Amino acid sequence: LSCNKDFLGKIYNYQGCWYYPNTLQGVLNFQKGFKPQETDIIIASFPKSGNTWLKALTIALFVRLNNTSSSSDALHPLQSDNPHGLAPFLETILYLNSSTPDVTKFPSPRLFSTHMPLHTLQEPFKDSSTCKIVYVYRNVKDVLVSLWHFRCAYLQKEIDKSLLEYSFESLCSGVGYFGPIWEHVLSYWRGSLEDPKHVLFMRYEEMKSKPAAQAKRLAEFLGCPFTEKEEDQGCVDKILELCSLRNLSGLEINKTGKASNNMHHSVFFRKGEVGDFKNHLTPEMENKIDMIVEEKYKGSGLKF
Ligand code: A3P
Repeated sequence: LSCNKDFLGKIYNYQGCWYYPNTLQGVLNFQKGFKPQETDIIIASFPKSGNTWLKALTIALFVRLNNTSSSSDALHPLQSDNPHGLAPFLETILYLNSSTPDVTKFPSPRLFSTHMPLHTLQEPFKDSSTCKIVYVYRNVKDVLVSLWHFRCAYLQKEIDKSLLEYSFESLCSGVGYFGPIWEHVLSYWRGSLEDPKHVLFMRYEEMKSKPAAQAKRLAEFLGCPFTEKEEDQGCVDKILELCSLRNLSGLEINKTGKASNNMHHSVFFRKGEVGDFKNHLTPEMENKIDMIVEEKYKGSGLKF
């Protein structure tokens, strides 16, 4: 294991990706002990790429199917729990022995999420690769700005420009929280080309510009497409509204709730815009990222 220092302490490189010690322990526990089920669904992303939104959409797609006969005034799971509580991160639920939930008791299909790269995630799935993985990709420059704001919120600091510089350097060098981002994205991009039935590659920007089309694409991939009747009844729009940033961030559970690690749920909701990087990055920062993106993704077929 190679070790480095980050603004929060030591980070370790395992299978080409950087982790904080607790998360690394969770990754190792996951690889050793996780027993996949054929119907498992995993929402994957590099941090700050739209994981919360994609989880909410996935939950809403399934609860629509399962609850067709339930009374309409019963609370939807998204109104009583946070998306991260409903689809926990594999690398964090499995690291604390005292609070490890019994994932074998989760109802099927079990819904999880992860920030691990695909090769690390897939180790326990080698003999039973029927689970479905949905990856959400986001423009790297917006990821950087989102990560910077998230770090400030996490540290309960005012918006701190030095943390932007730090986040930029760490993202570009690849040595930082779940980095390098390029390898992360490419692992899932290649996985989606090799095995499109099991790995779906989505883009945050397309989810913003064509939300209905992307919700339908997700539903098809997950094996729960919208029926004509549902479409006529406006079901797609209702799901999009339920999962909108405005709606989710306004819910009591997300405004005031905290996760088991004491993090406020509200830090996962900010602006949710495409191109916010234009308000924060210098032209030099933009150029450097553009050059790295071009070089790293050359020949991969990944277009922007
Ligand atoms: P910004 O910081 O740019 O606003 P993740 O969920 O992977 O941690 O990503 C967080 C980013 O997704 C944040 O981006 C957040 O505002 C945005 N986000 C959260 N919920 C969203 C939603 N329902 N719709 C659109 N964007 C959302």
